[in-house]
Amino acid sequence: MAVHDIESPPPPGGPLVDTFGRVGDDLRVSVTDRCNFRCTYCMPAEGLQWVPKEQILTFEEITRVVGVFESLGVRSVKITGGEPTVRAELPTLIRMLRSASPDVEISMTTNGYLLDRLAGPLAEAGLHRVTVSCDSLLRHRFAEMTRRDALDRVMRGLRAADEAGLTPIKLNCVVIAGTNEDEVVDFARFVRETGYEVRFIEYMPLDAEQHWERAKVVPSADVIETIDRVFPLLAEGEGPEPASTFRFADGGAGAVGVIASVTEPFCDTCNRLRITAEGQFRACLFAMEETDLRTPLRDGARDEELARLIRGAVWSKWEGHKINHPDFRRPGRSMSMIGG
Ligand code: 5AD
Ligand code: SF4
Repeated sequence: MAVHDIESPPPPGGPLVDTFGRVGDDLRVSVTDRCNFRCTYCMPAEGLQWVPKEQILTFEEITRVVGVFESLGVRSVKITGGEPTVRAELPTLIRMLRSASPDVEISMTTNGYLLDRLAGPLAEAGLHRVTVSCDSLLRHRFAEMTRRDALDRVMRGLRAADEAGLTPIKLNCVVIAGTNEDEVVDFARFVRETGYEVRFIEYMPLDAEQHWERAKVVPSADVIETIDRVFPLLAEGEGPEPASTFRFADGGAGAVGVIASVTEPFCDTCNRLRITAEGQFRACLFAMEETDLRTPLRDGARDEELARLIRGAVWSKWEGHKINHPDFRRPGRSMSMIGG
């Protein structure tokens, strides 16, 4: 294989590889671009121009596309948004996916606001686990960052998820300098009490309002150092995940992870693939290009044709986002429009 030669044809079979030798086996599926929160690092207070309903993939279409990805080697699917739980009848989709692709692990990233009601039905439908976004353990700051006074309700959602067995529960915490960086030790204490895993994510230039600046990024290495001073940490072996995970040296419950997307980009080992709510395939969070799967899907394309399109799109995946390069350009879409 001529490495980096995207002009060469992709291999006709086998896993979804690109010209850099990366294998895509983890698919993020956005089921809606809408959200009931307005996190400052993601959306403007007034929301965004939502995609019209008829352009959003139906449950049948999502199930079919996931089946094609499964036949191409995808082993885990993460349901995302927007906020996935605002999509009506979400447990029905989970049930359909579970029955069509029984061997695929299904998880979901959510803001947790509707989990107190939905955790039970989602678990029963076959969801395996959840990751809940939570950027502060202080009521006022949580309200400031998400523009919703909803910390209590999210905490109830977390407990409901735990009781429903949607475990191991992970928390996503976007760390922003001058906003919530003083809480990292409190989060560590919280996971020691609950047994959850908190993942600190570096703030990325994917906010719709374009307020991101480098000075607001808190390097993951600093987060780990701060926690380690109070609760000594032990690094776990490197997995295929972009997160680096640590356990507590004293054997305490819970875990800490960091996703150093800005200071230590993990593009060279990235295994993630994405479909937006309108059925556009993206081989990278920061991709400038998308491959339309909805049109062929609605025009009656056969599975082989969809597989060919996906293979070709993965094959032409670029090397990475070059956030730290002067030529870096933000993608045209922000986080909620892509799907975390
Ligand atoms: N930078 C980093 N993480 C972000 N998320 C949303 N916007 C950003 C951003 N600009 C996170 C959410 C969610 C995950 C899918 O992505 O908090 O947990
Ligand atoms: Fe909604 Fe998630 Fe964006 Fe917050 S980060 S506004 S919860 S989509």
